[in-house]
Amino acid sequence: MLFAGIAIAYTACKHEIPAFPDADTSTPSVITISCSTDSVYFANTIQPLLVSGCAMSGCHDAITHKEGINLTTYTGVMKEVNAGNASNSSLYKSMVRTDDERMPPSPAAAFTADQLTKVRSWINQGAKNNGCNSCDTTSFKFTATIKPLIQTKCQGCHNPASLGGGIDLSTYAGIKSSAASGKLYGSVIWANGFFKMPQNSKLPACEITQIKKWIAAGSLNN
Ligand code: HEC
Repeated sequence: MLFAGIAIAYTACKHEIPAFPDADTSTPSVITISCSTDSVYFANTIQPLLVSGCAMSGCHDAITHKEGINLTTYTGVMKEVNAGNASNSSLYKSMVRTDDERMPPSPAAAFTADQLTKVRSWINQGAKNNGCNSCDTTSFKFTATIKPLIQTKCQGCHNPASLGGGIDLSTYAGIKSSAASGKLYGSVIWANGFFKMPQNSKLPACEITQIKKWIAAGSLNN
């Protein structure tokens, strides 16, 4: 392992595309319920959106929890949710207001209409602590797979208004350039010498494989 670490650090410094290092073995447990297109799931969509859009350091993370609100856990999220009633849930209401109390506050971008629909549906469907798994390692095209994955799980912290580590993952060009530097893959497998991304919960192994295959196939805008 020590030699692998040195090899990664060496290639990263040279800004070449590194050979794919071994993934960390601490992958999350696998959820076996397959996804229904009618449902919105907490683990797959809502939690990553909230972590990326609201729980960055200094806001509603486990350490800062501004105004006592910690959006990194289901229990913390449920303090702001009235299950079954999005219009009566402070979580949703704070996202759709248009004044300067909107969450996330400016200069961060508001959640997109599609993201708001997902939050509203999840609450109205009972705000369950649920998750599903329909990830397929044979799907790794940019538009259908990689872009939505990054939009949900990374973009809230990596956009022009919030440039974590100077990395912009809100455009194809930005994602491609982080892939070319080796940082995209190094960070998602939590390799030595890279910041671990996302910080608190590693991507499922299947999603890491999709990213790996997309990069290996040339990081195309396909
Ligand atoms: C909660 C905010 C947050 C989320 C979510 C997040 N990042 Fe980051 N990211 C950061 C910050 C902040 C840094 C700068 C390093 C640091 O301070 O930890 C960073 C650094 C990075 C880097 C530079 C790594 C390096 O070693 O130089 C990459 C690449 C990256 N993130 C990719 C991602 C990807 C891909 C995702 C989604 C799978 C993601 N990030 C999710 C906040 C986040």
